[in-house]
Amino acid sequence: MKFNNSPIGIFDSGLGGLTVFKEIRKILPFEDLIYFGDTARVPYGNKSKETIIKYSSEILGFLTDKGIKIAIVACNTSSSLALDYLRKISPVPVFGVIEPGAQKAVELSLNISGRKIIAVIGTSATVKSGAYSKTIKEKAGLLCGAKKAEAVNISNIDFNENLEIIEKSCPLFVPLVEEDFLNEEITKNVIKYYLASVIKEKPACLVLGCTHYPILKDFIEKEIGNSTEIIDSGVETARSVKNYLEEFGMLKSGTKYGNEIFFVSDDSERFKELGGKFLGRPIDNVYVVNFS
Ligand code: DGL
Repeated sequence: MKFNNSPIGIFDSGLGGLTVFKEIRKILPFEDLIYFGDTARVPYGNKSKETIIKYSSEILGFLTDKGIKIAIVACNTSSSLALDYLRKISPVPVFGVIEPGAQKAVELSLNISGRKIIAVIGTSATVKSGAYSKTIKEKAGLLCGAKKAEAVNISNIDFNENLEIIEKSCPLFVPLVEEDFLNEEITKNVIKYYLASVIKEKPACLVLGCTHYPILKDFIEKEIGNSTEIIDSGVETARSVKNYLEEFGMLKSGTKYGNEIFFVSDDSERFKELGGKFLGRPIDNVYVVNFS
């Protein structure tokens, strides 16, 4: 019982993971949450696998020292490249954001007859890893005999006659979000630029394969149109975490609204201001942690 009342740890390279935090809070109001945003080292999306594993392990260690009951890697880049390693070293269960988003994309495309295209947008490191293609294929039960995902800017893998996956990296989206450029014309133009090749394919769904991207969702939606369903991996992750906690009897007891505490590796004032804007309410309790 004591362990069930321990907090949930959530981390990202910066502000993006707050989109997952928000969904978790929505459906698990009584859980205590600890968030870590690696604001000194964002973005992760253009870094090597080794570096991403190093940063992610440091943060996981910090959170497990705080006594968390589960860890949520609220970062697609880290989930793509570091999840296996984190699961090996972690004393608590570790959740990534790729699997739930991939699962939802497969579920949606099962209902479509004819050509089904699943599009995924993410950071360069996530797209290069091929993690979404691999996971979608696994989920679709079609991994055997499928061609290997190519680590290129756009990889388009025909893995059966009707189902295709398009992965597109959008490396400027994260800096635009972190710089709070949401209402700037340049942001709309960058979205148009990156999505042009995806829109041409008329995908059935578009997975927002980076936790920063839901912050741009309204603009993305306008650009891609409403015949493409947008999948927010944060929403799907929150659902699967809730199911897990219920299934294993790990929900916090009581009906007192959960505590929240935030850690960043740089500039807590900026995080308070921008993070509060993204969460739609003020953020207190922000502390700076230095790993070096
Ligand atoms: N929000 C993260 C993701 O989901 C990381 C973005 C970055 O730091 O480049 O991939």
